[in-house]
Amino acid sequence: MKYYIKTFGCQMNFNDSERIKGMLQTLGYQEAKDWQEADIILINTCTIREKPDQKVFSHLGEYKKLKEQNPKALIGVCGCLAQRMGFELIQKSPVVDIMFSSFNMHQLPELIQQAQAGYKAVAILENPPDDEDKLWDYPTVRDNPYCAYVTVMKGCDKNCTYCVVPKTRGRQRSRSLESILKEVRDLVSDGVKEVHLLGQNVTAWGKDIGKHFSELLYRVAEIDGVERIRFTTGHPKDLDEGIAKAMGEIKKVCEHIHLPFQAGSDRILKLMDRGYTKEEYLEKISMLKEYVKGITFSTDVIVGFPTETEEDFEETLDMLKKVRFEQVFSFKFSPRPDTPAYSMEGQVPDQVKTQRMSRLLQLQKEIMGEVAKSYEGTIQEVLIESIEHGNKLIGRTRTNRWVSMEGGVEMLGKVVKVKVIRSYPFNMECELV
Ligand code: SAH
Ligand code: SF4
Ligand code: F3S
Repeated sequence: MKYYIKTFGCQMNFNDSERIKGMLQTLGYQEAKDWQEADIILINTCTIREKPDQKVFSHLGEYKKLKEQNPKALIGVCGCLAQRMGFELIQKSPVVDIMFSSFNMHQLPELIQQAQAGYKAVAILENPPDDEDKLWDYPTVRDNPYCAYVTVMKGCDKNCTYCVVPKTRGRQRSRSLESILKEVRDLVSDGVKEVHLLGQNVTAWGKDIGKHFSELLYRVAEIDGVERIRFTTGHPKDLDEGIAKAMGEIKKVCEHIHLPFQAGSDRILKLMDRGYTKEEYLEKISMLKEYVKGITFSTDVIVGFPTETEEDFEETLDMLKKVRFEQVFSFKFSPRPDTPAYSMEGQVPDQVKTQRMSRLLQLQKEIMGEVAKSYEGTIQEVLIESIEHGNKLIGRTRTNRWVSMEGGVEMLGKVVKVKVIRSYPFNMECELV
């Protein structure tokens, strides 16, 4: 029996799919090369903006052809859209046999049995069940042998007014320290060198179990064999001095942080309910620079939030100029059903969003060009992750920049020093030192 998983959305969804693959392999399934040869197809969905919603239905239209050749084949939809739409999704697309969300991933074995018996297997609950931690008993199946994601919390306790995540993933549930450390130890004994701790707001990890995120960093760093630690996503409000200090003290923590600011205008930040001002965000950046020498930043920005004026937008551009992010992920505001921003007055016309977006991209392109140039001639530490065409090594710097260089397979998984010869916005050509 073979499975095929199509994943949309963020790194958490990606890691959920790795776990689902682990569950399916435990059940005896193997990964199919393409969906046409699968016995079960799962679409792990995202609903953060309108676009990913639409993609799911176009894929379902394609995948339903599978049942013509293989009438026993099963089609499932999981993830955030499944949680948001519930039964409505099956009504809209009766070809779906299995449905669950991140709350009930651990129930997949039973759901498959139900579907094989001819029932619609739907497990969509209002709240996460008490036994959801069973999920951690299953391994993950990863493509990258050296860098691994580790989910350290589920859900999110914030209430950003544009965001569906607290609804689709529920309130924050921190995974226990023991459970996380066990997974990290297992990964290391499997050859992993870099662990990437994941959560919608990892900087708030522990708050619901009487712990602090810095403790998690120190404890993961104690594990022999872990060479590098990264984490995503940080929230400016929860990023405190304790975390900055830990990042600076622990050599294994990479000098990079993804810290979304979303908007530069204090008025818009307030409407978004982000819980900080532009000034406070910039103070966090200064604090991080003080504790973590050479730290680099990336961020997320929303363009065209309701009532955003030209002046508000210029505050966002000003943030890009002040911080000089290595990477900016920018999104046009997309009104999501059942969120407060959906029905706010003063929705910005799409044409205005598009114009602002292209100005933002133009500015960031210039900044990135300059940032990239500043790397030329420097020495960087790189973890070699893969090889292309037999002699082109691909890796990442501690500051999260992709590099390529000549070398052989014996270099895979090694942490090496390189000199940057030429640097472009998304890649750097390097030489081994
Ligand atoms: N937990 C993370 C973000 C998760 S969603 C954080 O708080 O930083 C990833 C990004 O999608 C967000 O940072 C935001 O920039 C964007 N986003 C979320 N909801 C959106 C919406 N309704 N419209 C446009 N962009 C949105
Ligand atoms: Fe959404 Fe805000 Fe939570 Fe991020 S912090 S997941 S944007 S509610
Ligand atoms: Fe999308 Fe859910 Fe992640 S809505 S961005 S897959 S948390």
